[in-house]
Amino acid sequence: MKKDFIHIDDFTNDEIMQILNLAVEVKAKFKRRENYKPFKDHTLAMIFAKPSARTRISFETGFCRLGGHALYLNPNDIELGKREPPKDVARVISRYNDIIMARLFDHAHIIELAKYAEIPVINGLTDYNHPCQVMADILTIWEKRRHLDGLKVVFVGDGNNVVNSWLRLAMRLPLHFVCACPKNYTPDNQTVQLARDAGISTIEIVNDPFEAVPGADVVYTDVWASMGQKHELAARKKHFENFQVTSRLMDATGKTTYFMHCLPAQRGLETGDDVIESPNSIIFDQAENRMHAQNAIMLKLTDKV
Ligand code: CP
Ligand code: NVA
Repeated sequence: MKKDFIHIDDFTNDEIMQILNLAVEVKAKFKRRENYKPFKDHTLAMIFAKPSARTRISFETGFCRLGGHALYLNPNDIELGKREPPKDVARVISRYNDIIMARLFDHAHIIELAKYAEIPVINGLTDYNHPCQVMADILTIWEKRRHLDGLKVVFVGDGNNVVNSWLRLAMRLPLHFVCACPKNYTPDNQTVQLARDAGISTIEIVNDPFEAVPGADVVYTDVWASMGQKHELAARKKHFENFQVTSRLMDATGKTTYFMHCLPAQRGLETGDDVIESPNSIIFDQAENRMHAQNAIMLKLTDKV
């Protein structure tokens, strides 16, 4: 049966660890510029309903470097859900290409794509989640710490799509995950419940960042208004002003703590140059690892490993 990557918990704990190991292996081959072309004669269709730098560049570059050809379909090309329903697009693309990666607004659309496609579908972000991001994040943390034992990750800001993926990762890997967010900006309730019910992680949703960060191995933030919500930014600024990741907040962890951000960042809002440019900021390693994590995900989904 074909496999998709729509939620990070689509993979078991063992599969996630296998993907992380594979990502490290494939990353090393990249760095050595080895002639490794498992996707020779393969094509990847990349559907974008929203803007992107990292997702587009990392998928396209990664797939091409592994011997394949990636097609970039911009928001005007397919107009998924408007010009054509996801179920038709899924079956058409399945006749041409080997993998679909899609960045969409409506999460129901990616589920429909996956249901009707005969080839693997990868979620490159929806309003609900961002699993490729969090796979790259955990790879980065694993590389830096060399283990994942006793990991405490504190997300400060909006309980958004990235947070939902962290919660779903917490269903597979034991974590202490804290989301410090304003009262009306908590993550998806059902997802919090799923993460708690899985019973392997400690999940806290709090409203005070200073209460959240002591002992954090990682402090993570993201924009206050995600794509599709940019018109709300002015109103959101009032609610988020106490949720900035400042140097003072980083110092309040009481230990050496990595700073992470999925990027793009709005300097002066959710964080600033002092934190972004600090020695413990690992945001560019994180961005780089998007490519290596995704390559491993694509190899796994196409049974090349
Ligand atoms: N982090 C991330 O997904 O970046 P892009 O929106 O630029 O793809
Ligand atoms: N939460 C952000 C992530 C961008 C990579 C957004 O959805 O816009």
